[in-house]
Amino acid sequence: MSRSGKISRRDFVRTTIGTGVALSAPAVLGTRARAQGRTFKVGLIGCGGRGRGAAAGSLEAGKILGFDVRVTATADYFKDRAVRAGKQFGVPPERCFGGPECYKALLETDVEIVLMATAPLFRPLHLEAAVRAGKNVFIEKPVAVDPPGCRRVIAAGELAEKKGLVVTAGTEMRHDWNYRKTHQAVVVEKALGRLYAGRVAFCIGHMFWTRPINPKTADDLVRSWQNWITLSGDHLVEQHVHNIDIANWFCDGPPVSAVGFGGRGRRPAGDMYDFFSVDYDYGDGVHIHSMCRQINGCWNWTGHDFVFEKGRTNGGNHADCRNSPIPADLPRAPSSHIQEQVDMLYYVNKGGPVNQARAVAESTATAVMGRMSAYTGRQVTWKEIMTDPAAKPDSYNLTLRPTAEDFEKGTVQIPPENVIPLPGLSAAR
Ligand SMILES: NC(=O)c1ccc[n+]([C@@H]2O[C@H](COP(=O)([O-])OP(=O)(O)OC[C@H]3O[C@@H](n4cnc5c(N)ncnc54)[C@H](O)[C@@H]3O)[C@@H](O)[C@H]2O)c1
Repeated sequence: MSRSGKISRRDFVRTTIGTGVALSAPAVLGTRARAQGRTFKVGLIGCGGRGRGAAAGSLEAGKILGFDVRVTATADYFKDRAVRAGKQFGVPPERCFGGPECYKALLETDVEIVLMATAPLFRPLHLEAAVRAGKNVFIEKPVAVDPPGCRRVIAAGELAEKKGLVVTAGTEMRHDWNYRKTHQAVVVEKALGRLYAGRVAFCIGHMFWTRPINPKTADDLVRSWQNWITLSGDHLVEQHVHNIDIANWFCDGPPVSAVGFGGRGRRPAGDMYDFFSVDYDYGDGVHIHSMCRQINGCWNWTGHDFVFEKGRTNGGNHADCRNSPIPADLPRAPSSHIQEQVDMLYYVNKGGPVNQARAVAESTATAVMGRMSAYTGRQVTWKEIMTDPAAKPDSYNLTLRPTAEDFEKGTVQIPPENVIPLPGLSAAR
């Protein structure tokens, strides 16, 4: 068990990924997994760059495993995007759904696996509906934008588990063999002794809108979702969650608290910050420094660095574990984006159980905790946002608006552009 008292990453890896001797791809092709020859119907919700990439990855994964994988339904807020993706994957137009409730129509079809890659705000609502409909789901990161959203994803994951459904997540380094084996060696087998400290970063150049968006409608917000706190969670959540996820994995649970700084010097659109620096306290004296920035012309680094008693690792370069956490008949894919789809099909074929909902929801919540701290200028604790409704009800119940449901009901209020949270003055967001 982890410090939080929940099933830890280590237990998760042990119970769901299992142990066994890792084999290279050529060695496993033609084995049990390949011999199944099953057909899988896949549906895609959110037909942008990543969604279409995930669907293509699923087809590729099918070839690796010897399964007949077909994309048979698409859905996007904008119907023309669903139809365009449909054309790419050979889906007839009557199975390409549009509008804010397009996911409902897709979930009524006979797809067995659903890939979700919309704006993060919508993930909890869509995942809940998919699990209720009995689908196996791949959820892109991040999976929510506020604490209640993260808890909804955890609850949906628990229901999926009860129903024997598989939920995998787009935190792709958890699917990468080098990361899995390094985690096994360093965290499970303690090859480097005790963890002292670390840092994780996603510092890159400017992305997305270069002039004010001036949104008038809900559609304008969805088109420019990467620029709005409510739809993306801010880039600390939307992008840097990848590295924060690795910190949580290597610290064997989420942090106790966060103290963050951040601000906006250069961004001309939306309402997000363009840099953050957060100190995460994981308890027992272990601190992880997290930084992310989207500004041109600055020093860039994306990665991880963990300092242990007997050495250090970037999370993927200490793969000499004694016992491999990777099942012997699981094929190795040429990239982590394809590997996550190989894992998905492999476990759906086996009937599970794999539930990555909690891990990715906790990593999302960790990022949200850092954002709340940077926006307000105060320390924010895991207890107040995730585990104790009475500790600080405003934090526990913090719900960003407009909500996913507002987009369906037509009750979206447009947030003011270029008005940003002010530490020491603003309420939490
Ligand atoms: N794991 C990775 O490496 C990686 C890389 C890029 C993006 N992502 C994640 O994937 C998701 C999508 O990112 P993207 O780059 O593809 O963005 P995108 O803008 O290219 O695509 C998002 C698509 O979702 C649609 N959409 C938005 N809200 C919707 C809703 N309520 N219902 C149906 N469709 C909706 C949009 O119209 C758009 O077509 C995000 O969560 C992002 O963080 C992950």
